[in-house]
Amino acid sequence: MDKLNVSVIGLGQMGAALARAYLQKDARVTVWNRSTGKATPLVEQGAELAPDLETAITASDLIIVCVADYATSDSLLKQPHVESLLKGRTLVQLTTGTRADAERSARWAADAGFQYLDGAIMDYPVVVGSNECLLLASGAQAVYERHEQALKVLGGRFTYVGEQPGAANVLDGGLLTIYYASAIGFMQSAGMMMAEHVTPETLKHALDAFKPVIDRTFEYCTDRISRREYAGTEASVHVHTLGVKSLLSRAKSAGIEHGLLQLFVDYLEKANEGGHEADELPAVFEAFRPRGTATV
Ligand SMILES: NC(=O)c1ccc[n+]([C@@H]2O[C@H](COP(=O)([O-])OP(=O)(O)OC[C@H]3O[C@@H](n4cnc5c(N)ncnc54)[C@H](OP(=O)(O)O)[C@@H]3O)[C@@H](O)[C@H]2O)c1
Repeated sequence: MDKLNVSVIGLGQMGAALARAYLQKDARVTVWNRSTGKATPLVEQGAELAPDLETAITASDLIIVCVADYATSDSLLKQPHVESLLKGRTLVQLTTGTRADAERSARWAADAGFQYLDGAIMDYPVVVGSNECLLLASGAQAVYERHEQALKVLGGRFTYVGEQPGAANVLDGGLLTIYYASAIGFMQSAGMMMAEHVTPETLKHALDAFKPVIDRTFEYCTDRISRREYAGTEASVHVHTLGVKSLLSRAKSAGIEHGLLQLFVDYLEKANEGGHEADELPAVFEAFRPRGTATV
């Protein structure tokens, strides 16, 4: 099999991990970064440092970009002489951004005559290159399929999520919202536990046993939100409100930051005021339902 040829533009914490994953698979990896010093460890591992962006682009048919944001990427790539070098190649944009960023970039690629996939990396650099690493890609399916093998070097769970260029970025936003809510919820909880002389390790151990309850809640919410049907006989919004108010007063009396718990109480109160007192927890979704726009 021919040696895989790939260029990686952007060698921050994530870009360097992407390049490393290819080096570990013995690919021919050309790298470029604004600050050249960051390329040194990669060059020691066999990467070729391009003297300029143009050389990095012409070195490979597959170009992976991972920089701070789309404005940075645009400032580097949206130049007529760079666009003409991109012609006929494939650019995979792994910088975090929005649906609009991806759509604008896909139109730009089509006008400039190169193939384009937009993607999102759903894990940390240390996991990149492993079978567990989840990445998402969207754009033309034929382009994804052509590069699937090369992309899966970055993560065994590299997943194609659809033709719409923004699909990966949209899902990235959905997953990250849940990620931050959970992670910051963990910090809130760890503070409260510490005030009660319970270690973070003990909390984590208890959380592992509790995870099936969380999973079932997500499944239940998915079903109820889709059907907009909130009646049930398990636990009312009223009962949940009492429970969360108890958490709030525990945090307050321990002198712990409690803004997050106050927000939870506010959302539950909103559901009560909206007439959902006897309904179940998924009724809180009504506070988040997009108004006046077409939804699923
Ligand atoms: N780190 C993660 O765990 C993670 C996970 C998922 C997704 N991501 C996404 O991956 C992307 C990169 O993240 P990172 O962690 O690698 O960030 P980082 O370590 O801060 O690196 C930022 C990169 O952008 C470049 N850059 C910034 N401003 C620039 C400019 N004006 N001109 C040229 N290059 C510029 C930096 O170049 P210099 O080195 O010269 O400053 C560097 O290559 C982000 O969109 C991030 O959301 C990161």
